Amino acid sequence: MLNIILMGPPGAGKGTIAKKIVDAFELPHISTGDMFREAISQGTPLGLQAKAIIEAGNLVPDELTIELVKERLLKDDCASGYLLDGFPRTIPQAEALKALGPSIGRPVNLVVDITVPDEELLSRIAGRRVCPKCGASFHVVNMKPRLDGICDRCGSTLIQRKDDNADSFKVRLENYYKSTQPLVDFYKAEGLYHHFDGMVGHIALFEEVSKLLKESK
Ligand code: AP5
Ligand code: MG
Repeated sequence: MLNIILMGPPGAGKGTIAKKIVDAFELPHISTGDMFREAISQGTPLGLQAKAIIEAGNLVPDELTIELVKERLLKDDCASGYLLDGFPRTIPQAEALKALGPSIGRPVNLVVDITVPDEELLSRIAGRRVCPKCGASFHVVNMKPRLDGICDRCGSTLIQRKDDNADSFKVRLENYYKSTQPLVDFYKAEGLYHHFDGMVGHIALFEEVSKLLKESK
């Protein structure tokens, strides 16, 4: 069983590798960022609460985020594994997941952390274009879509995320170091932690992560 957490700083490539992992290992992709963006575009009460927070680069409050993930993990499609992308990203979220997972028979058994130096993160974020429909990420230099401005996976017109600007990125990175990086020690202590260098290139990175997942299945 693969119950995976994918972590890493903003722009490290979590979403990019997540799409490949869920296709190859047939897992549901649970991206809290995508879920919040969907709620914002639908104008739901959660979306209205989260919009300004996300656009400024801040973290959505733990209570809201934990509830969202709890509901999602209880769904039937998570019974035979799942990939969490961008959750948990605070110690209280990790503690909540540690209590929830075993209680519903779906404990986390693998943490994949992808790191990239700060200056590279900024250039990945600045050049990123995303698909508003299927969530796929592209880059104007590093990972160009086959047709300019068009999603390879579903054909929608690509956009730039509202939080992909220098000011919001700075806040996101500060929040990452302050709130999310402490999870490294948390998951090392749990014996679940695996580190990967996100600078090896997206094909090599997927191969390395896939090897671990196949061994852990
Ligand atoms: P979220 O959507 O999770 O954003 P993030 O963590 O800032 O991460 P990103 O999605 O920006 O980056 P990524 O690692 O997925 O990179 P990608 O693959 O796209 O969260 C957004 C917001 O929602 C948060 O700021 C917060 O407000 C809120 N939120 C979400 N979860 C929360 C939680 N748990 N608690 C509280 N609040 C929460 O790649 C980036 C670029 O690099 C792309 O252009 C891509 O083409 C390129 N690229 C990818 N891989 C490579 C590679 N190997 N080599 C070269 N280029 C590459
Ligand atoms: Mg992402």
